[in-house]
Amino acid sequence: MAEIICIIGNKGGTGKTTLSHMLCQGLGLLGNRSVCVLTDTYREPLSPEGRRYLTADARSAEALQKVAEKLAGLHAWKGVIDGGGNRTEVDQKLYDLADLVLLPFRDSHEDMRTVIRDLELFPNAYALPSQWPTNTWQRDAADKALEFMLSEYKHRILTPVAALSSTKLLLQKQIPSELPTPLGNACRRIAHQVVALLNQIMAAREAAALEAEQQALAEQQAAVEEIRPLEPEQQSAEPAPEADANDNAYGTDSPAQEDDMPMADNAMDDVSLDDAPPAPAESLLDPMQQEQAATLSADEAATLAMARMAEQPSSPSYEHEDYKPHPAGHNPYGTLPNP
Ligand SMILES: Nc1ncnc2c1ncn2[C@@H]1O[C@H](COP(=O)(O)OP(=O)(O)OP(=O)(O)O)[C@@H](O)[C@H]1O
Ligand SMILES: [Mg+2]
Repeated sequence: MAEIICIIGNKGGTGKTTLSHMLCQGLGLLGNRSVCVLTDTYREPLSPEGRRYLTADARSAEALQKVAEKLAGLHAWKGVIDGGGNRTEVDQKLYDLADLVLLPFRDSHEDMRTVIRDLELFPNAYALPSQWPTNTWQRDAADKALEFMLSEYKHRILTPVAALSSTKLLLQKQIPSELPTPLGNACRRIAHQVVALLNQIMAAREAAALEAEQQALAEQQAAVEEIRPLEPEQQSAEPAPEADANDNAYGTDSPAQEDDMPMADNAMDDVSLDDAPPAPAESLLDPMQQEQAATLSADEAATLAMARMAEQPSSPSYEHEDYKPHPAGHNPYGTLPNP
């Protein structure tokens, strides 16, 4: 997949088109394959002949889409997209598809104010001072203005591209067969700077993707651990927690010890009385009733058993017809001999 560099910005005449061609020429001189993509409907496509790069015409939305798709399928290429001035909507689209966004601006307060707005609008973009004065005094003044107005963004400002009259040769429809050396050098410098920045961006992106992948994996792993039930052999193989000095010496679940040990005071702590079956009451029921009771709740079964108890004859009553009191003075057990 080709890396996409977009050169955009709200202000016209800042050097977007010139920088796009300089960057592509520089990339070619450094041995990189690139294509300079024209999106500005007010400009004519330039012939690729004699250049170290290809040119593409993407002045319509459909054409831009096709070029973007083509670039996506190209490996080790770089696509440099030249935006047009005053096209915030197009700039936003280009910003979204770019790996690196450059915002050229010149040595003027108006350009600087505009680039500040664009830096705010495009938080991953870099500002690139363009047509920077070469005269010492002018350059000092330009640097001071830059420091004064853009100090807050200084980590997002690239090394200035100096003003160079021969740059206009690159904007000719057909470039001369030989280009001046200073132009070649200027193009190389821009390309060097951009390649280094791109490498940094790509490395940071890869590291972030890797971190996100690891994080997602760890989260998945944690979710699986949470829902996986323990295997039976795992459960039995689990070592009993080691008793420390304060532990109840009999608080063990080991069956071998359980039989030998007296029951600990807290042995019934875990037993819920609600779970205890109503056995004594149920035993008063006949088998059919017991079967019925099995389908009843504990309370219902108890009520049934109580009713049944009420029907049962209790211990023999004195009023019972079979009861014959012993005659007075009769001792049925005999009398113990006197010692
Ligand atoms: N580094 C440079 N040195 C000297 N002149 C330059 C440099 N860069 C750009 N220029 C000149 O500045 C003018 C505007 O440049 P350019 O057309 O590249 O700007 P632009 O941002 O593409 O403009 P537009 O917004 O109209 O598309 C041109 O005349 C160009 O030759
Ligand atoms: Mg232009």
